[in-house]
Parts: sequence; structure tokens; C-alpha cells
Amino acid sequence: MNSAKFFIARTFALVQTIFLLAALGAAQPAFAQKPSDLIRPGDRWLDNRGIQIQAHGGGIIHLGKTWYWFGEGRSQTNDPQKKYVACYSSNDLVHWTFRNQVLAIADPENLGARFVLERPKVFYNAHTKKFVMYMHLDNSSYKLARVAVAVSSKVDGTYTYVNSFRPLGLESRDIGQFIDDDGSAYLIFESRPTHGFYIAKLSGDYMSVEKQMSFVNAPLEGGAIVHLNGLYYALGSHLTGWRANPNVYATASSLSGPWSEMQNIAPPETNTYDSQSSMLIKVAGSKTTSVIYVGDRWTPSALWDSRYIWMPVEIGDGKLSLPQPQPWKIDVRTGVTTIVPDVKP
Ligand code: GAL
Repeated sequence: MNSAKFFIARTFALVQTIFLLAALGAAQPAFAQKPSDLIRPGDRWLDNRGIQIQAHGGGIIHLGKTWYWFGEGRSQTNDPQKKYVACYSSNDLVHWTFRNQVLAIADPENLGARFVLERPKVFYNAHTKKFVMYMHLDNSSYKLARVAVAVSSKVDGTYTYVNSFRPLGLESRDIGQFIDDDGSAYLIFESRPTHGFYIAKLSGDYMSVEKQMSFVNAPLEGGAIVHLNGLYYALGSHLTGWRANPNVYATASSLSGPWSEMQNIAPPETNTYDSQSSMLIKVAGSKTTSVIYVGDRWTPSALWDSRYIWMPVEIGDGKLSLPQPQPWKIDVRTGVTTIVPDVKP
């Protein structure tokens, strides 16, 4: 082929490709959303590297414009002798950047190779400028029932293990975190012997648990709290291990209670749409304040592949309900959340 013919053939091929790509684009329905702009509860949620997010039983803090999501790192490539906490960041709650495995620790208290480290929560202490991580630490039979504490001066730095203890001298298994509107930090922990969960204030430096605010007389774990329009909503799951159950909530006008009767957050037969509570995130925007249920859909046989159920809840006047999970989006500036009907073919 001489060079003129070659040039014409190449140009023709290029034009064909452009038309093909345009036709493919036009084949997408006009109302289709880019999947990456939506939160799709229960789907694989990928980080900026295209790797499934490992932040199970997680906790989320909001610093400036950025949210940080910490959770159990259960990646298949982890060293089985160690337990991991991973940290991700996001400015929109949808796209998450992997920051670091902020903790990778081998049996810190001689508990045996099958020691348990679950539900990490990080608090930022504005006085000491330290990030303080609480975790549920246990042996393989879950008899130790302690919290462990680790600390870092950088949000996504390597956290240094400090110690472990029973908060207020009480057995503590699942933990949750709550930061009130005035910045006060609380640990929520389940205590089996007294069949209920405690809400307790952290000490000034957050390195210990100082004061009981409430004992909620209901055997619940996966504790989460949100404070909205003068009411506290406390949410938890029943004690059925990795199996989902109907999660319930109660309300109180003070963290010290008294708490109302527990009520289901979703039709009980759905077992909270096959999920377990971990956290409630409040997004206060310029137009509205939304509250997001953050739950785990555990896969005990492949914990690394456990999925996340995040949905904006219907909340107000003492009522809280979790709608059926479906794709949705959020504008964190306005606080507006929108359910986007699924357009999968
Ligand atoms: C659940 C708990 C999880 C994990 C699991 C182990 O009840 O919420 O964090 O401890 O039990 O069976």
C-alpha cells in the first residue's frame, strides 16, 4: 500500500471507531447514572484502586471537608497472624481513597493466634491533637471482653498500640462511637452480664472511659447513636453473631435517658435487609440534614467479601425507619439524598 492509500485507510478506521463509540454512548438511556456516582447498598464497593473496601464494622469521622472511614481490614492478602484496621477518606461519601492500613498487629496481649480485633473506632482529640482508636479486643472464645486503645498523631498514620482494659470495669464486646454536637465523645459498649449496653463518656484525653451516661436495658450490640432536633436515637442489633436480625431503636431527650421502648427500624422479616448496624452518620448540609444508616452484611465464610448496607433513613419526631436498600446519591453540600431507581438492564 502506498502512503496516500495507507493514510486514507487509517483515517477511515479512525472515523469508524469514533462513530462506534458515539453509538455505544447513545445506547445508554438518558437517565442512566454513572454507577460510580451512586451508593449501591450490597454491591461490591471499590476504592480508588479498584479494590473492594475493607472497613467492616467501621467507624466514620468528619474532619474539615473530609470523612475518614476506619474498619476491620479483612483482605485475603493479609498475614493471617495479624489483625488489621484500614483507613479510607472521601469528600463526598461515595468515592473512597485508600489511605493506609493504620494498624497491622500480631497478638498484642498473648491471647493466642486466633485473637479477635473488631469494630475499630477512631476519635480525634482536639486538645491533645491525637487520634485515638478504640477496638474490641478478645480471645477466640470472646471471653476477654475488653477494649484496646491505639494512638497516632496523624489520621492515617501508623497507630501505636497502648493498652487494653474493660471500660468502667465492665465486660465489653461490640463497641460503637458517638460524637455529640458539642464535640463530646462517647463509647457505646455491649455488656453481656447485665443484658444491655452502656453509653459512656471518654476521659479528657480520650485514653480511657470515664463516666457512665446510660445503661440501656436491652441486650443489644452494634450500637449506634445520632442526635437530631433535640432527640437522641440509639440503634442496635440483637445478639445473633454474624446472622442478621431485626435491629431496633429507642429515643431519649438526654443521653442519660430515660429511653423509650425499643422499636424495629425495618419490617422484622427482612432482618434489617440482611444487615447489622454499625453507625449512623449525620450529614448537615445547606438545605437539609440527612442521617445515613451504615450497616454490615456479613459473609462469615468469606468475611473479606462482606458488603456494606448504607441507606439514608427516614427520621424525625421520635421515629426512625430504614427504607428498602436501593441505589442512591447524596450531595454533601446540601445534605440532600436522592434514591435513584435501578436502571440495570
Ligand atoms: C457479632 C458482632 C460482630 C462479631 C460477630 C462474631 O454479633 O456484631 O462484630 O463479633 O458477632 O460472631
